Amino acid sequence: MRRPILLFLAFATLGLVAQAPAKSPQELRAFFQQNCVRCHGADGSAHGPDGRKLKGFDFTNAARMANQTDAEMVRTIRKGLFFGWRMPSFKGKLSQQDAQAMVQEVLRKAQKGKAIAP
Ligand code: HEC
Repeated sequence: MRRPILLFLAFATLGLVAQAPAKSPQELRAFFQQNCVRCHGADGSAHGPDGRKLKGFDFTNAARMANQTDAEMVRTIRKGLFFGWRMPSFKGKLSQQDAQAMVQEVLRKAQKGKAIAP
């Protein structure tokens, strides 16, 4: 009587995966606008429109970006920083795959003065 339960679990797991289709780069840029701009700035440079430095990491700083691996950045996006106090966790909203794409397709392509937009 084990089989039906295992089958059920397998389908339930597949169902969960299927429920969350990977986000496109456009969706990720929109997601950035809605969730990251207040700390990382419209262009990802962590500077506000009035030149004020925000609290986040400057994604347009090539030297800093070169020091950070994709895996480290993905981990921060999923887990947050300092228990979500400095930066919230986006685990519930971005899958591992989405966080990876966020780093590669959005953050690593950020250019100073060019707003990240869909
Ligand atoms: C409440 C403010 C806040 C929000 C919102 C926020 N961040 Fe951050 N983020 C920070 C701070 C603060 C740092 C650390 C800056 C530093 O160490 O120089 C950081 C660092 C990072 C880093 C560098 C991680 C590393 O490896 O050190 C990444 C990548 C990142 N944020 C991505 C994001 C993304 C993507 C979003 C939106 C989905 C986001 N953040 C939203 C505050 C925020």
